Amino acid sequence: MQKPAITKVGINEVIAKRWSPRAFDPEFMLTSEIIDSLFEAARWAPSCFGDQPWKFILFNKEDATSFSKALNCLSVGNQDWAMDASVLVLVCANKNFQHNGAPNRFNQYDTGAASENICLQASYMNLSAHQMGGFDSEKARDIAAIPSNVDILSFIAVGKMLEEKKISALQMEREITPRKRKPLEEVYNINTWKK
Ligand SMILES: Cc1cc2nc3c(=O)[nH]c(=O)nc-3n(C[C@H](O)[C@H](O)[C@H](O)COP(=O)(O)O)c2cc1C
Repeated sequence: MQKPAITKVGINEVIAKRWSPRAFDPEFMLTSEIIDSLFEAARWAPSCFGDQPWKFILFNKEDATSFSKALNCLSVGNQDWAMDASVLVLVCANKNFQHNGAPNRFNQYDTGAASENICLQASYMNLSAHQMGGFDSEKARDIAAIPSNVDILSFIAVGKMLEEKKISALQMEREITPRKRKPLEEVYNINTWKK
């Protein structure tokens, strides 16, 4: 199932193709090569001072015990569909620069860019990624032993979208909601904040 971005002008195909589905194929597993491609894409994101503040913790459904611990951190609404993803990725960011230990106020900015690279790489490989803010970050900190000098930002579910004919009516209801965006005119101003 495709839900390409409706754009006023042409944009990069992979950006147009990426969207956040909830109907994943529960049988599909990622190969180690696919997993490496996702994090290779993240690795090449830009970052302030080239600090690369991100760290991703992978929970693979092949390891059912660890996957279910990660799944349990999610809100009930997210668990409902993310259980069918192949992997759950916990997105973390170091709060301090590595070169001098000073607070890095760009850690979340940089890690967001790296996360989007994961989502785009998934799309490029005909997979899907769905980011989530609905989870208990202290539970996640606990299960993955994340130290206090690290921000916990999101989870990303990655997997293969379920074939359209296998999508239940209930799932389909969620999948067909139109993708909404502000009009292009509201996205940027010229020279000033004021219109
Ligand atoms: C930081 C962040 C948190 C999100 N949290 C959730 C979430 O908890 N549950 C969910 O179903 N989707 C979540 N989403 C997905 C957004 O709802 C989705 O990206 C947005 O509606 C745009 O749709 P699109 O990705 O299909 O273009 C989140 C996305 C981001 C970037």
